[in-house]
Amino acid sequence: MNARAGEGHGHGKVILLGEHSVVYGRPAIAAGMTLGCRAYAEFATADVLSVEPWGVSVDAATVEADPERELLRRAFAVLREHYESPRRALHVRATMQVPGGAGLGGSAALSVAIVRALDACLGIERTNEQLVELSMAWERVFHGNPSGIDSAMAVRGGLLQYVRGQPHLPIRPGKALSFVVANSGEHGSTKSMVESVARQHARDPAKAEQIFDAIASLVTNAKSAVEDGDHRRLGQLMDLNHTLLNTLMLSTSKLEEMCGIARRAGALGAKLTGGGGGGCMLALAADAERTTAIAQALSAAGYAAFAVEVVA
Ligand code: PMV
Repeated sequence: MNARAGEGHGHGKVILLGEHSVVYGRPAIAAGMTLGCRAYAEFATADVLSVEPWGVSVDAATVEADPERELLRRAFAVLREHYESPRRALHVRATMQVPGGAGLGGSAALSVAIVRALDACLGIERTNEQLVELSMAWERVFHGNPSGIDSAMAVRGGLLQYVRGQPHLPIRPGKALSFVVANSGEHGSTKSMVESVARQHARDPAKAEQIFDAIASLVTNAKSAVEDGDHRRLGQLMDLNHTLLNTLMLSTSKLEEMCGIARRAGALGAKLTGGGGGGCMLALAADAERTTAIAQALSAAGYAAFAVEVVA
């Protein structure tokens, strides 16, 4: 990397409880992962974003025919519009360490890595709040109504309770949390899932609000279970949260199968995580050693699985 290049990183995340209801102002608990996205920026002749392992390159100024590439280009152009004018052209090379469309906050991690790399290259300093705002502008290109949880986690990492528009509340776990994340291999579109919940809310607001309130009370209970180190209770609350997400038609037969495999392999609780409709499952293990049996059972059934540790 030469002296005029900049580097940036954004965290991926898992939502322990509270996805979707968080869009409607209820609390959610999320944990940042070390894995996320890393990006490098250097001066070039055009504003280009390249993303690996997707093998995609887009030029901020050139409209793409393919709808997915065009979304990526527009999101990149939205970020670049926040920089000085006339702009110096920069090439950003990003490497995703988490899959996209998997409920692991890959898109927000990508945006944060890009902005940090651009800022480092251009000598710009930005507060975390400003960084979250820019990341949300990117997220709005992909899905109209982001709660901001992915952007907040991509910037900060850690374990926290998130409520839309409020200061985040860091959570201190009573003991280390050991999770297994497994990918269904089905692409989950956060946009379509958020839109589907919005349609259900428009059709029967009272019923949807009741479900969101029920999830909110699971989240509140889960926060104290995490703080008390009561993982058996946390697991039960995750199971209940999954049932409510299923009521909102966010699960799939693969996610159901994965939750069943994880529970039979000893998980204390298992649920879909993130947008759903595909993407990933999150299972809680009693301790770090017991993640191995759960991950192996999922791998044996053909699902890529890995352990995530949240330290106390
Ligand atoms: O699918 P992901 O990783 O983008 O997670 C989305 C979380 C939702 O609550 C479903 C949407 C949001 O903006 O909070």
